[in-house]
Amino acid sequence: MITVEGLTHRFGDVAVLDNLSLHIGAGQFGGLVGPSGCGKSTLLKILAGLLVPDGGEARIDGSSVVGRPGRTAYMPQRDLLLAWRRTLGNATVGAEIAGVPRQEAQARARRLLGRFGLDGFEHAWPAELSGGMRQRLALLRTFLCGHDVLLLDEPFGALDAITRRDMHAWLQQVLADDPRTVLLVTHDVEEALLLADTVIVLSERPARIVKELPVEFEWPRRTGLVTSSGFIQAKATLLEALETGRS
Ligand SMILES: Nc1ncnc2c1ncn2[C@@H]1O[C@H](COP(=O)(O)OP(=O)(O)OP(=O)(O)O)[C@@H](O)[C@H]1O
Ligand SMILES: [Mg+2]
Repeated sequence: MITVEGLTHRFGDVAVLDNLSLHIGAGQFGGLVGPSGCGKSTLLKILAGLLVPDGGEARIDGSSVVGRPGRTAYMPQRDLLLAWRRTLGNATVGAEIAGVPRQEAQARARRLLGRFGLDGFEHAWPAELSGGMRQRLALLRTFLCGHDVLLLDEPFGALDAITRRDMHAWLQQVLADDPRTVLLVTHDVEEALLLADTVIVLSERPARIVKELPVEFEWPRRTGLVTSSGFIQAKATLLEALETGRS
């Protein structure tokens, strides 16, 4: 479903990606971790079709997305809500760009407000929402694009630990009801282990894969899982791989 082959990219003298290849199967949830500045957001921008790499291929469902935006639902690292649009207007931006008539997009958004924890806030401005609500609204907008592949760049990065845990439970539920293929970037190895089917650990720049860890804990994964011995072991494996990728 998501295939990256021999991806290479540099910004000036800085080699960011050097012959990177990876694959996420249809309906799978891939977690991507790696040191700050290693090229995670660069990879997502290439998959979103917004940045053309120097070399290599990026495919969704077998078709190249290089230089072709609009094949995936991309949530950038900052939530980028439009300050001049209310909740409903922000939720429908992506769908409108994808050609869905505004009325229909709004009807779809209204049906999902409850599930995204935004009931009663459809007319609120972004500035009137909490951090968690803003992130859920940005995710709602991403879901409403209607694409099967979601590219999420640190969607919960700005949230406190408790809100984050709530969002992990919530996202599992949302995806159980409406399955998608996901590639999620995170700095938090626990988040990756709670959400992903496979965790990919990248090295420092230029990013290469240090480890691909299949995660086999049962769904739904509750917060208590983090204290189990299997979880602690998996976490140690990922932290060790991150360390290896630095040297
Ligand atoms: N538009 C750009 N122009 C020049 N350099 C860039 C540009 N975008 C990214 N870079 C550089 O490419 C490298 C990788 O950046 P990227 O944003 O992909 O890292 P990241 O892994 O997402 O980091 P973080 O975890 O901090 O978000 C960094 O050294 C960054 O400075
Ligand atoms: Mg980034």
